[in-house]
Amino acid sequence: MKRERPLVEALQKFAGQEPHSLHVPGHKNGSISNLPKEMQQALRYDMTELTGLDDFHQPEEAIAEAEELLRQTYEADRSFFLVNGSTVGNLAMIYATCQRGDTVLVQRNAHKSIFHALELVGVQPVYLAPEWDEYTFTPTHIDLNVVKEALQHFPNVKAVILTSPTYYGVVTEQLKSIIDLCHTYKIPVLVDEAHGAHFIASDSFPMSALALGADIVVQSAHKTLPAMTMASFLHVKSSLVESEKVNKYLRMLQSSSPSYLLLASLDDARHYVSTYIEADAHYLMEKRMQWIESLRAIDELLVIEVDDPLKLLLRVRGYTGFQFKEQLERNQLYVELADAEQVLVILPLLKRGDAYPFADMRIRIKEAVAVLLTTEKEALPKLSEQFSLTKIVMPEYSFEEVEQLEKEWIPYMRAIGRVAASMIIPYPPGVPLFIPGEKITVAKLSQLEELLAIGAAFQGDHQLNKKHIYVIKQ
Ligand SMILES: Cc1ncc(COP(=O)(O)O)c(C=O)c1O
Repeated sequence: MKRERPLVEALQKFAGQEPHSLHVPGHKNGSISNLPKEMQQALRYDMTELTGLDDFHQPEEAIAEAEELLRQTYEADRSFFLVNGSTVGNLAMIYATCQRGDTVLVQRNAHKSIFHALELVGVQPVYLAPEWDEYTFTPTHIDLNVVKEALQHFPNVKAVILTSPTYYGVVTEQLKSIIDLCHTYKIPVLVDEAHGAHFIASDSFPMSALALGADIVVQSAHKTLPAMTMASFLHVKSSLVESEKVNKYLRMLQSSSPSYLLLASLDDARHYVSTYIEADAHYLMEKRMQWIESLRAIDELLVIEVDDPLKLLLRVRGYTGFQFKEQLERNQLYVELADAEQVLVILPLLKRGDAYPFADMRIRIKEAVAVLLTTEKEALPKLSEQFSLTKIVMPEYSFEEVEQLEKEWIPYMRAIGRVAASMIIPYPPGVPLFIPGEKITVAKLSQLEELLAIGAAFQGDHQLNKKHIYVIKQ
C-alpha cells in the first residue's frame, strides 16, 4: 500500500519497535538528556540514517518516496528536501548553474544568502534595482524593461536570479514574461521563493514561479507551511539546468547527519499542502477577512493587504513599526518584523475547521494600539528609496578583488563615494544595504542613518556602535 507520509511512517515504525541505541546521536533516543521532558520526548524521533530510515544523500527508500511525492505535488522534474533552510538551496542553485568568473543578473533586494553564494562561487554580479512600492513602502520586483535592457547589454549571463514574493508578500504580474524573455536567451531563471511554499495550495494565492516556468525554485517550507524551522524545499523544472548538478552541490553543502525531525516535518508539510482543498482556502479567506474587518474597526489602525493573503501590514499613524511592535510584545503578541512604517504579520495556512485565536489577538492589538496612542509619536522619517535610480549597476570591484584590496574602518559620515568592503544587513528582512564592492552613495548613507535612528538591528561586519564602516582603502 502506498504510504501517505512515507518518512513520518517509517520513523514512527522504527521508534515503535522500542529500539536500543548503540549509535549516534549521543542522547541515545532521548534517554541521556537534561532537556525538559517535553523536549526529550521529541528526541525519540531524532534518529540517524539507520536500516529502514534510508540515506539522505543516496535516497532509495522512505526519503526517495517522500521526495517523489514532493516532486509530484509541485509538478517539478525533481525536488529535494533541504535541512539547512532556503539558505542552502540558494547556495546550491548558484553553484549548480555558475562558475568562477561568470556574469549573472541579480535582483538587488535579495536575501543575504544569495550574495553569499555569489561570493563563494566567485561570480560577477550585475545588480538590477527593484521598483519602489508606495503602497507597502518596500522595494519589490524588477521591471520587465530593466531585464530586457540588462539582457541586451549582457546577453551571455549564466543565470538571472530573482526573489519572488518579497518578504512582504508582494509579487509581480510580469514574472512570467521575465522568465519567458530569459528563456529566449537560453538563460536559466533561479527564483528564491522562500516565502511562497504555500502558493500551490489554492488559486487564492499568487502563482508559484515554478508554474510560471522558472528553472530552479527554492522555498522555505518552514516560513508558511506547518514545518519546523530550517525545513525547506528545492525544485528543478528545466531543460537548461541539470538537476544532478544541483544534487551534487546539495550533497556537498548539506550535513551528512540530517535531522530526521526536520525530514519528517518536511514530509508532513508536503502532505499538508498536497491535501489542501478549495474548501480549506475558502474557510481561511473568510476567517482572514472577518479578522481584517474587525481590525479595521480599531481607531487609528491601518490594515494593508498585499498580494499574498497570508501576509498583512499593520500601521498606526505617527508611530514607527518598531514602536508598535514593542507595545504588541508587551501583550505577548509577536509579529514577523517591524520597519519604519509598519509591522508585518504572517497568518497560518488554516484548513477548514482549524481554530486560531483571532479574537484574542484582536483584543491584544486593540490594547497595544490604545497604549501606543498615549506615548510620544516618533517623527516618522519617510524611508528614502533604498535603491538607486540607475537600474542596472555593476559593482566597482568583484568579491575577489575586494578580498585582495587593502581596507580600513572609517566614520560612515565620511564614506560617500567610497566602496564598501563588508556587508551591512538590516535584519530582518536580511536584504543587505551595503555589499562588498558596491559604491556607497548619499542615498544609501541616509538610509543607514534613518534605520539607525529608528532602532533597526543590523547583521554583518560593521562597527555601527562606533559609527564606523569597513571600506576599500583609497
Ligand atoms: C527572501 C529570503 N530568502 C531566503 C531566506 C533564507 O531562508 P532560510 O531561513 O530558510 O534559510 C530568507 C529568510 O528570511 C528570505 O527572507
